[in-house]
Amino acid sequence: MDKVLLNMVVNGKPVSLEIKPYTRLLDVLRYDLGLTGTKEGCGIGECGACTVIVDGQTVNTCLTLAASMEGRHITTIEGLMENGKMHPIQEAFIKHNAVQCGFCTPGLIMSAKALLDANPEPSREEIKLAISGNLCRCTGYEQIIDAIRDVAGQPNKREIF
Ligand code: FES
Ligand code: FES
Repeated sequence: MDKVLLNMVVNGKPVSLEIKPYTRLLDVLRYDLGLTGTKEGCGIGECGACTVIVDGQTVNTCLTLAASMEGRHITTIEGLMENGKMHPIQEAFIKHNAVQCGFCTPGLIMSAKALLDANPEPSREEIKLAISGNLCRCTGYEQIIDAIRDVAGQPNKREIF
């Protein structure tokens, strides 16, 4: 099948490449652009490991055709560092031990970033809703919620997830 030209902006940089029309965004990011921070867990839209931000909204890249990204602005986990410094959400995940095996972590951080960009002072319920599409088999979620609340400047009070 003929290839199509895709123009998009990834982590602030314009990108142009030829792709097969049925290529997933996940594969373009990982294999064409080498942005392997975005993970593939399930490949069927269930786990959230492949989450990135497209024009302010979280997207499961395993379910997204790359060809549909023409002209869109995409942010991956690699785009969060500034001047060699980790993003505050990344620092908070470390501070609160919200990372164990780490496979879910990039997707969770992208969901947290999209939430905090849109709503800098989310309630605990809003945080739970925002990360409800990101599965973590290790942490039990409490440390993740604590980390996001910390970035939002909120005191942490442990509750059952
Ligand atoms: S790999 Fe995309 S949702 Fe699991
Ligand atoms: S830290 Fe292992 S799946 Fe979340």
